[in-house]
Amino acid sequence: MSMLEVQSIDVFYGASRALSEVSIAAEVGKVTCILGRNGVGKTSLIRAIAGLQPIAAGSIAFDGQQIAKLSTAQRARAGIALVPQGREIFATLTVEENLKTGYACLPRATRNIPDEIFELFPVLKSMLSRRGGDLSGGQQQQLAIARALVMRPKLLLLDEPTEGIQPSIIKDIERVIELLRSRGEMAIVLVEQYFEFARRLADNFVILNRGRISMADNREALYGEDVRKHLTV
Ligand SMILES: Nc1ncnc2c1ncn2[C@@H]1O[C@H](COP(=O)(O)OP(=O)(O)OP(=O)(O)O)[C@@H](O)[C@H]1O
Ligand SMILES: [Mg+2]
Repeated sequence: MSMLEVQSIDVFYGASRALSEVSIAAEVGKVTCILGRNGVGKTSLIRAIAGLQPIAAGSIAFDGQQIAKLSTAQRARAGIALVPQGREIFATLTVEENLKTGYACLPRATRNIPDEIFELFPVLKSMLSRRGGDLSGGQQQQLAIARALVMRPKLLLLDEPTEGIQPSIIKDIERVIELLRSRGEMAIVLVEQYFEFARRLADNFVILNRGRISMADNREALYGEDVRKHLTV
């Protein structure tokens, strides 16, 4: 059984439909990629999983439990962490304070920043008292991922982590995602428009087109002709 099973969900903004009958699954120790052009519904899907966007139909199962009726905070406590598009770092809070917001949903006794956060992102250790807004875009992205990891998630949702980031830090982020996958402790869902990055990391993938799944397959298919066709529609 998959850690995450989204079945045939619909999402609306008022009368306008953003997702139609979208299904996706994610397994522990695997990276599942959501691909697709601008405005096809990638963020809507990931926000629906995190509980930031209600669904009008379908179901979302996480770790064997139906979660569609749970609040965002309840889903976070259950182990779902989101690294949002655009990072959403608190600019006036320090790096350390930003990290602490990541575990606010946890019981008091487990509110701490594991040392391994600084093994994954050494740069953050020397910047703990700097303000979030003073960090570079790449450092902010690393902080956003670290903030999600302090709650020790079972499902990590990453929305376009390479957007506007310089290549050296993209490499660092890639290594971290590979390491997290290899530990086999969480399922990872990665939204990406940087195709080569997605191809290097994906175990399986879906392509969204105008709110619908137009293709779903495993990593080998990312080297085929079909993918290009679906991505250029
Ligand atoms: N809050 C909102 N209110 C109304 N419409 C919205 C809202 N958020 C998104 N939409 C619309 O829903 C559709 C899907 O948007 P979404 O942000 O999910 O796409 P996306 O694939 O993440 O795009 P991008 O690649 O630009 O991040 C778009 O047509 C968008 O304009
Ligand atoms: Mg988006």
